[in-house]
Amino acid sequence: MLFSVAVILLLLYLTLRSLRRRQHGLPPGEMGFPILGIAPFAGRDIYNYIEKLRRTYGDIFCIKLGHHLTVVLSDYDVIKSVMNNPDAQGRPDFFSFKFIAGFKNRGTVFAQGPVHLAARRHTMRYLKDFGMGKSLAEDIIQDEIKALLKELEKLVDYPTDFNSIFCFNVAVLNVIWKMVADRQFDVGDKVIQEYCSGLNDDFTITQGPMVFLDMFPWLRPIIPRFIKLKWMRLDTLEKNMEDRMKLYQESIKEHIASLNPDDPRDLLDAYLTEMESNKGTQDKPYGDLKDVMFNMDNMFIGGMETVSSTMRWILLYMAKYPEVQQRVQEEIDQAMPRDKLPTLLDRDSLMYCEAVIHEVHRKASFLRLSLPHRTTKQIQVEGYTIPENTIVMINSNHCHVNPKYWKHPEKFYPEHFLDDQGRVITKKDGFMPFGIGRRQCLGEILARSDLFLFFVGIMQKFTICAAPGEHPTEMTDPTSLFVRQALPFKFILKLRQPQREP
Ligand code: HEM
Repeated sequence: MLFSVAVILLLLYLTLRSLRRRQHGLPPGEMGFPILGIAPFAGRDIYNYIEKLRRTYGDIFCIKLGHHLTVVLSDYDVIKSVMNNPDAQGRPDFFSFKFIAGFKNRGTVFAQGPVHLAARRHTMRYLKDFGMGKSLAEDIIQDEIKALLKELEKLVDYPTDFNSIFCFNVAVLNVIWKMVADRQFDVGDKVIQEYCSGLNDDFTITQGPMVFLDMFPWLRPIIPRFIKLKWMRLDTLEKNMEDRMKLYQESIKEHIASLNPDDPRDLLDAYLTEMESNKGTQDKPYGDLKDVMFNMDNMFIGGMETVSSTMRWILLYMAKYPEVQQRVQEEIDQAMPRDKLPTLLDRDSLMYCEAVIHEVHRKASFLRLSLPHRTTKQIQVEGYTIPENTIVMINSNHCHVNPKYWKHPEKFYPEHFLDDQGRVITKKDGFMPFGIGRRQCLGEILARSDLFLFFVGIMQKFTICAAPGEHPTEMTDPTSLFVRQALPFKFILKLRQPQREP
């Protein structure tokens, strides 16, 4: 009996799969079971399942991610072309995405259509005006380096798990806060510590059982609220969001009291000024104060964990490859005295350091599937027809290890980013840690300045090594579905000896 049911299910599944493919001219792939899609096969290890399918079906294939038809692209040129297609710039109908946008089309990260375009353009313009990639941002970051180095000094010679300390997060957040709302927090400030821990929690929660609501939208009205609150931890997500909004409200009040629309001091002033002219309109990004708060929130969500996790990966690679760390320190020592804080101009003489950061982006591939897009109209890709409302996932991690682009794909080899003259190469085919195309990361320039200045500042002062008995590993936390978080790992920071006189 059980055997017959299994055979019928199998036949049904195979029929549905082949029907679907022929009907739509879709790329090859696996639709999995009706209703459930590939979920039962992939389990929690979606990335490795996708990689397995890529090996079977090639660089363009489709799957049913729960309810959502999804196309996975792994070829760099195809990715580049689709990510520049105006009809592939939506975001999927995921519960977690909607929650973070307050169930409205707003913000930058999860908005779409004209609201997204206007918010992106506006935010980009003001981030540049307020110093992103210029000396103003550099001054802000340097203040944070000083505070960070002081904090790290307290850890010297003690085995420490960098995943469990917030000083990187606070340093990164402070830089963004300063540009968004001219505010800075002390690293020990309870408010900011709770803020960081809340955002970290949110990252974990949205990759936990809440994924069911992302994958199966029809479950949303069926699942009782108490299950959402307790098992999926929506209660924590709601509480964290409420706390963040309170903090933004404080800044908004202060800003409104001293706002001069002709002379915006920071991004918040620019949002508030824009809000006045957008009031009551539908397709503008800042229609009311709530929109402004969600736009602020997007900047912190986009920037905090990405930069601080990359910083942790950099330090892990330095502990794993002491010979690379030594070369980094030699380059720094040759370029500047130990007591001089690095500036962005030092990039020209610290090309190996820059190459190391790029190689960490490649090897760690923090957002290995980038952020998913959605087609808002039917599109053609490589002769296939991709219907409207299809999720588009880009497999950046595959591009990052594709031998077509990398001499030693599996090795940690900073020379991938140096030319014959030892000059750094910042743009390379197959390299896209910040995404590519029309939604490419809005904070890339800021992130690159942060990482360069923090990395050089730390390497000037400390040497990092694994604590006794620990072996740095590139393996990642299996509970992170879409991001690659390093596993908990203990390091030791050693204060470097003073530089000898030449
Ligand atoms: C190492 C650091 C970072 C990495 C690896 C990173 C990576 C990414 C990626 C892969 C995307 C998705 C692109 C797409 O959807 O096609 C993205 C989007 C975005 N990032 Fe970043 N990011 C970093 C830092 C930052 C920072 C510092 C900020 C802000 C201060 C920021 C703000 C954003 C925003 C607002 C978006 C949405 C852009 C849009 O949808 O138009 N990111 N980032």
